[in-house]
Amino acid sequence: MQDLGKIEKEALIKIGNAVNLRELEEIRVFYLGRKRGELTKISSELPKLSTEDKRKYGSLFNSLKHRLESAVEEKTKILPEKLPIEKTSRVPEKSEAKIEVYSTLPFDPTAPVVAKKSGHHHPLTLIVEEVKEIFHYLGFSCVDGPEVELDLYNFQKLLIGKDHPARDVQQTYYINDELLLRTHTSPMQIRYMEDHMPPIRIISPGRTYRRDMPDATHLPNFLQIEGLLVDTRATLTDLLGTLDFFVKRMFGDESKVRFYSHHFPYTEPSVEVELYHEKAGWIEILGAGMVHPDVLRNGGIDPDKYRGWAFGMGPDRLAMLKYGIDDIRLLYSGDLRFLEQF
Ligand code: PHE
Repeated sequence: MQDLGKIEKEALIKIGNAVNLRELEEIRVFYLGRKRGELTKISSELPKLSTEDKRKYGSLFNSLKHRLESAVEEKTKILPEKLPIEKTSRVPEKSEAKIEVYSTLPFDPTAPVVAKKSGHHHPLTLIVEEVKEIFHYLGFSCVDGPEVELDLYNFQKLLIGKDHPARDVQQTYYINDELLLRTHTSPMQIRYMEDHMPPIRIISPGRTYRRDMPDATHLPNFLQIEGLLVDTRATLTDLLGTLDFFVKRMFGDESKVRFYSHHFPYTEPSVEVELYHEKAGWIEILGAGMVHPDVLRNGGIDPDKYRGWAFGMGPDRLAMLKYGIDDIRLLYSGDLRFLEQF
């Protein structure tokens, strides 16, 4: 019984608020539609009732149905037929422009609004924003760079020679001999140094590309965030301290970090940073090092006066660790069942 009253009230309000015939028809089908209408659903329950209830609810049901039918009919009359069902979006002609839509049916301004689902940030955006915020706090600004990059910036000026395995066509999407899809964000080091004098403190997030077969931890298209600091006094301990600070801000003061030596052609010395994860053990999260003097030179900066350090991290990896995601493909799937959890 309560349901019938509620349905009637709801339906009358919707009918009252309908502004064109198409909308009215949708409402009619929703409630009175023969196959799946709300009332049809209720009527299929009626036979299950006792004879007495059948009589009582049957007549209540029928009168409700009639009231809704006549409300739709009445509304059909007053809705301007000049707003045709098919062409609701056409520009009204002059003579029609002032059509007033009014109704004698109840309009309830206190009725609760049907909450619309609103969007929110993607988990990767949340991670990138968090990284930006931590480095903003340390005085780094954020810059953007091209995804289609010159071989010159992506490799040569970073001292990645012609024979370096990273340049293999198996790993790089070449557009032609000189152009490619950047395989990392490190070319932004050169680009930024060429245009700016120290002190430099920047991070540069963006998309990067490698010819990887998609699996749980690899995609041909992923994100990186580059960091670069150039100043008169920049030291390896500053770099390690900064990265330690960053990881603790991002993953909590309890998190464990370890550094070990590594090799990148454009930094010397180079380190890799691993974060301890309870289930997965030690996981590599970023590469870093002191900017090689020749790289400073290639960026137009005198290595006798300035020193620099740089790092590159993968926000996909950070998101997986932070949110406990075991398959990187989920982050790029657009699957709402996954995304709605954030
Ligand atoms: N470019 C390196 C990578 O893609 C990361 C890195 C950046 C290392 C800056 C050192 C300095 O893994």
